[in-house]
Amino acid sequence: MTSTPQASPTANTKRQRPVIAIDGPAGAGKSTLAAHLARRFGFLNLETGAMYRALALKAIESDLSFDDEAPLLDLAAYTRISLEPQFEGNRVVLDGIDVSRRVRDSDVTEAASRVSVHPHLRAWMVEQQRALGAAGGVVMEGRDIGTAVFPDAEVKIFLDASPEVRGDRRYRQVISPSNALERPAMQRTPGAEAAQQAILRDLKERDERDRNRVESPLKPAPDAVVLDSTTMTLEEVLARAEEIVRSHLA
Ligand code: DC
Repeated sequence: MTSTPQASPTANTKRQRPVIAIDGPAGAGKSTLAAHLARRFGFLNLETGAMYRALALKAIESDLSFDDEAPLLDLAAYTRISLEPQFEGNRVVLDGIDVSRRVRDSDVTEAASRVSVHPHLRAWMVEQQRALGAAGGVVMEGRDIGTAVFPDAEVKIFLDASPEVRGDRRYRQVISPSNALERPAMQRTPGAEAAQQAILRDLKERDERDRNRVESPLKPAPDAVVLDSTTMTLEEVLARAEEIVRSHLA
């Protein structure tokens, strides 16, 4: 990242503005929720998954194994990743080049999931993420924000949903990228069914990796509000989350 790492917020530095931590598994709608909350309350929206994706992309381009931590750490040492919050999501800049679209491709998605299991690499990411959010006034979205990056975050929301519903949303997002939690009409052709099954399979694989890694496995922080959106509409999720943030700000 381009900013200089600062002291860990866990060292009880008092922030002027809050950190809103949004964690949860892939496809739960975290990005939609985080972008909405950031706009509503005038906070920066930082998608930490994009950092893992950017490093994974560099590993792909450098022809490195995703499963070997030491060379990845060496690579990280001369890598600059910056997140530039925009109205809809983050612009992702890797070593000065805009890779916002490329990091969403499926090969990068798979590589990011594998790269993110490495403990030292995670420590490197966490340090950068703490520096980015140190002043507060951020909605930070990821897997370990409320547990590892900002265990003292003022608001923690763990957004979950059943794998089937998340897979379904991901598929709908692929055919209509506007909004993960919306429900555009869908064609039930054999090709569409197969594509949906493939998305669900990949999602379960990544879930497995996220939940079972040794370092900072995906789980709700003890003080997180768990929102299970399996049977909720987008409007209900946004309204509930807004209520949670508003009650903190009050
Ligand atoms: O949220 P995302 O799909 O863009 O995340 C990409 C990968 O990075 C995903 O496999 C999980 C991992 N990740 C993580 O381990 N910790 C985070 N704070 C954010 C993402």
